[in-house]
Amino acid sequence: MSSTSTKIAIRVEDLTVSYGPVPALLDVTVDVPAGELIGVIGPNGSGKSTLIKSMMGFIKPDVGEVFLFDREVSQTRGMVAYVPQRGSVDWDFPITVREVAAMGRYGHRRWWQNLSRQDYAKADQALELVRMSDFAKSQIGQLSGGQQQRVFMARALAQNAEILLLDEPFAGVDAATERAILDVLQKTKSEGKTVVVVHHDLATAAEYFDKLILLKQRLFGFGPPSVVLNPELLCDVYEGNLKVFAELTKQQAK
Ligand SMILES: Nc1ncnc2c1ncn2[C@@H]1O[C@H](COP(=O)(O)OP(=O)(O)OP(=O)(O)O)[C@@H](O)[C@H]1O
Ligand SMILES: [Mg+2]
Repeated sequence: MSSTSTKIAIRVEDLTVSYGPVPALLDVTVDVPAGELIGVIGPNGSGKSTLIKSMMGFIKPDVGEVFLFDREVSQTRGMVAYVPQRGSVDWDFPITVREVAAMGRYGHRRWWQNLSRQDYAKADQALELVRMSDFAKSQIGQLSGGQQQRVFMARALAQNAEILLLDEPFAGVDAATERAILDVLQKTKSEGKTVVVVHHDLATAAEYFDKLILLKQRLFGFGPPSVVLNPELLCDVYEGNLKVFAELTKQQAK
């Protein structure tokens, strides 16, 4: 194996994060290899968004640290692009879709510099990828939730970051959009980037991802889907909805 294929993109070390008395994440350690497409699964409230935000350096942990390519997360400006969970951003000021996508380019400019024609070209390419070019001049606040989600993806893609973190990009999108987003994520991976995606649908998790992180406050599993999507483990984490897992195992056996 070459050294690049074993490079660690994201190192999460002994991470404990609390908002109140009960930790949202407890003692989580995981090494995400560079160049892979990784899914984060777990029930509601299991700490998935908290893990992603910690990887962004948005949250100060109680204990532990996150490193991106061996650098402390606070020293990694521009290295990681983020698409937040839907509904967590409320757009009530006037800004066009193209301007939102172009925001991804600000990390490449000094504060006194305007965006260049090339920056806008990158933003336009990203809108094309998520099939939102026709809406470039629309106000972001006037789009549907699924359309907004695609624009946020375009903003993240325009950033051309080494690491892409997406919090439930498939939530509430139609089947064709889900496929289009997956294609974009796979293309991003094929360019050597590391992509981490919070995902809810266990039935598609094995097909979509190289590895899965299974969370419920603690790390319950990390590895290939064939290892992590183990009915016993899932029963522990999802509190024993055996019927769901029997169905899932049947599907995977096909
Ligand atoms: N800003 C906050 N203030 C207080 N508690 C929070 C905050 N954000 C998250 N929590 C709590 O931390 C825990 C983990 O939340 P988190 O949002 O990481 O879960 P999640 O796995 O992303 O859930 P979901 O599937 O519903 O998106 C939950 O118990 C939640 O109530
Ligand atoms: Mg969440």
